[in-house]
Amino acid sequence: MIVYFPKTLTVALRLSILKNPSLFSLRRFSLFPRVPNIRRDTMTKKSNNNEYQVAQGSQDESMCEAGERSTNTADVTDDTTSADYYFDSYSHFGIHEEMLKDVVRTKTYENVIYQNKFLIKDKVVLDVGAGTGILSLFCAKAGAKHVYAVECSQMADMAKEIVKANGFSDVITVLKGKIEEIELPTPKVDVIISEWMGYFLLFENMLDSVLYARNKWLVDGGVVLPDKASLFLTAIEDSEYKEEKIEFWNNVYGFDMSCIKKKAMMEPLVDIVDPKHIVTDSRLLKTMDISKMSSGDASFTAPFKLVAQRNDYIHALVAYFDVSFTMCHKLLGFSTGPKSKATHWKQTVMYLEDVLTVCEGETITGSMSVSYNKKNPRDIDIKLSYSLNGKHSKISRTQHYKMR
Ligand SMILES: C[S@@+](CC[C@H](N)C(=O)[O-])C[C@H]1O[C@@H](n2cnc3c(N)ncnc32)[C@H](O)[C@@H]1O
Repeated sequence: MIVYFPKTLTVALRLSILKNPSLFSLRRFSLFPRVPNIRRDTMTKKSNNNEYQVAQGSQDESMCEAGERSTNTADVTDDTTSADYYFDSYSHFGIHEEMLKDVVRTKTYENVIYQNKFLIKDKVVLDVGAGTGILSLFCAKAGAKHVYAVECSQMADMAKEIVKANGFSDVITVLKGKIEEIELPTPKVDVIISEWMGYFLLFENMLDSVLYARNKWLVDGGVVLPDKASLFLTAIEDSEYKEEKIEFWNNVYGFDMSCIKKKAMMEPLVDIVDPKHIVTDSRLLKTMDISKMSSGDASFTAPFKLVAQRNDYIHALVAYFDVSFTMCHKLLGFSTGPKSKATHWKQTVMYLEDVLTVCEGETITGSMSVSYNKKNPRDIDIKLSYSLNGKHSKISRTQHYKMR
């Protein structure tokens, strides 16, 4: 059996997976392909304030390929190996269970559709990345004329069964394949719906697939749901966890492993941030209009100015996103910010080389550049420049991070 491993997995992990392939179903412990650096321990430690302990699966460029390799598309359970799940994590029901149980996410989509039937009723809808077909089912129930549910993973087979079991086979057509490769049996659609957001909003780069579908099939004046997504930045005191995750490498059982510390610093952590740790205000970095933007607009440089709300130390900057459906009768959406109810996207923490000593009212100014990695466009490169000219800290620095 050939087992393909992500280059990010440790040898120990590889060996343990070889011995026990079922480990791959332990998605709770973030064995998704190319999952960003997630605070596994805090997922349990902080379980009280985070209902959704499991991260959304991330994918690499091969995310749809297991489906293409497999010959037996009807029976996922018998022939699917851990390697298949590695390359095609969305084929496993576990990740869909976690997404469906993220009620902030799923209920918002449900409310958007059921409370705004005028957007859906008698319309032709395209669901990009349908998964289990949940959004397509909502649309069918809201009176859509027809829904095309496109899903590239093996979950498409389940979606077909689900659609049939719920009596919507005449309204929903499930198409298995990449949106970029399928042929849609209609020249145009009135509505495009998708849940494409990744960690740090852009990780996974599924947004490009939505923009591709919009450019190819959406009628003039058609609706994209959601249509706005905004990225925000704030700053936190996080000495305890920085010590545990970063400084740890300085002295490991008496040995200097600080070369790993440099690597660890470069990988943003995906975690729930306790709002008590927030030291500054929050600033909007970028709003994207999914109905108008071009693919290149997802790469950007944005200035920021964070004002300290109290005397404290700053160890990290934290990014999070909001999503909104502005076409609704009454604005609907959700936030993945630390002050909102937790979602499976959590927040993205970027540790700073320096500990900033800030006094209330002092400002950290800087800029953040975000771009897709040239070698693997599902990875995100982040360049962060910041300066503080405060009473106790005078610092100016640029750091680079990579979400992979
Ligand atoms: C975040 S999940 C959302 C699933 C479902 N819409 C929901 O809300 O529960 C995204 C889904 O899109 C699929 N997907 C990603 N890129 C795709 C592409 N280019 N073409 C078709 N499906 C894609 C994935 O396999 C995954 O099932």
